[in-house]
Amino acid sequence: MQNRLLGKSGLALTEIGLGCWQLGGDFGPISEADSLAILDQAYQSGVRFYDTADVYGAGLSEQVLGKFYQQHNDICIATKVGRDASLFPGKYTKQGLQQGIESSLQRLGGDSIDLIQLHCIPYPVMQDGEVFTWLQDFKQQGLIQHYGASVESMDEAKLCLNDPQLTSLQLIINIFRQDALSEVLNLAEQKNVGVIARLPYASGLLSGAVTAQRTFADSDHRNYNQNGAAFHVGETFAGLPLEKALSLLEQLTALLPDNRSMAECTIRWLLDQPQITSVITGASKPQQINQNVTYAQQAPLSNELHTRLANFYQQHVSPWVRGNR
Ligand SMILES: NC(=O)c1ccc[n+]([C@@H]2O[C@H](COP(=O)([O-])OP(=O)(O)OC[C@H]3O[C@@H](n4cnc5c(N)ncnc54)[C@H](OP(=O)(O)O)[C@@H]3O)[C@@H](O)[C@H]2O)c1
Repeated sequence: MQNRLLGKSGLALTEIGLGCWQLGGDFGPISEADSLAILDQAYQSGVRFYDTADVYGAGLSEQVLGKFYQQHNDICIATKVGRDASLFPGKYTKQGLQQGIESSLQRLGGDSIDLIQLHCIPYPVMQDGEVFTWLQDFKQQGLIQHYGASVESMDEAKLCLNDPQLTSLQLIINIFRQDALSEVLNLAEQKNVGVIARLPYASGLLSGAVTAQRTFADSDHRNYNQNGAAFHVGETFAGLPLEKALSLLEQLTALLPDNRSMAECTIRWLLDQPQITSVITGASKPQQINQNVTYAQQAPLSNELHTRLANFYQQHVSPWVRGNR
């Protein structure tokens, strides 16, 4: 697997990372054995970058990742802070943030957090800027090695890019959410900030996992957050109404070459953007990781196909995307 440098951090991340939200049970119940099998397969497939958050399963995702890390300490772990009820939405203090990060470190193990990301914290808190000075202090103390931000909107991304020590931005980017390409990627590159692409498959729509017949477990966010009732509307299915998204998928399929699957085109489309450091695909089954790594190794899409997909997004998809852009 190829590595890419994460901005100015010096960290080399694998092009495919593993998103570990599902290990907290937000894609349906999951046993520890199944979680460890997913982590193990990712490692066997060459994945060395793992993304999680303190709130995924109220610490469960970090806990199981911590267990895995004990045997595989050559991996890079990014976690997130700022959505726990002790902080969100309006109780941010330096002490509270530090406690949150220390709790993550306890669950993950090791001496310090490789990369901590602010987890979709409110815009006014970012604008105030104090939170970035706290992170700088934590870095100096050695509690964290690097910090970045996971954000919802392009405005939030641009605001975070004003911080000179920011290492990374985590953004929703996929064929159904292309705004970052024109609005943020070049700016991030100029500031030497790495980009981590989340929701590459738009929660499984672009991988073919979600069809009109598909049903979801009660605790799967694709069941209870389709319209953003539980958290951001832009997150589940990348902010598209499911029925509309399924009809857009049919249109999209017709644009792709016969010899390349939608899932392969999705991963290649992302990795064809040189500003993207790592694509963090979720996976509910070990074999999905193998496939995702294989897709990453295929040839780039043609310029002509990129243009077709950009036009498709502007004309047909963009008007339907809900939530902050
Ligand atoms: N606010 C934030 O910071 C934030 C928010 C959301 C996510 N994230 C991060 O981004 C990561 C990825 O997000 P995500 O898992 O929601 O979205 P995703 O990667 O777009 O979708 C994951 C789903 O795609 C399907 N899939 C993956 N590989 C496949 C393959 N090879 N073939 C067929 N289907 C495949 C699986 O669906 P099935 O389960 O149906 O098999 C899987 O659960 C998360 O784990 C988390 O680390 C961060």
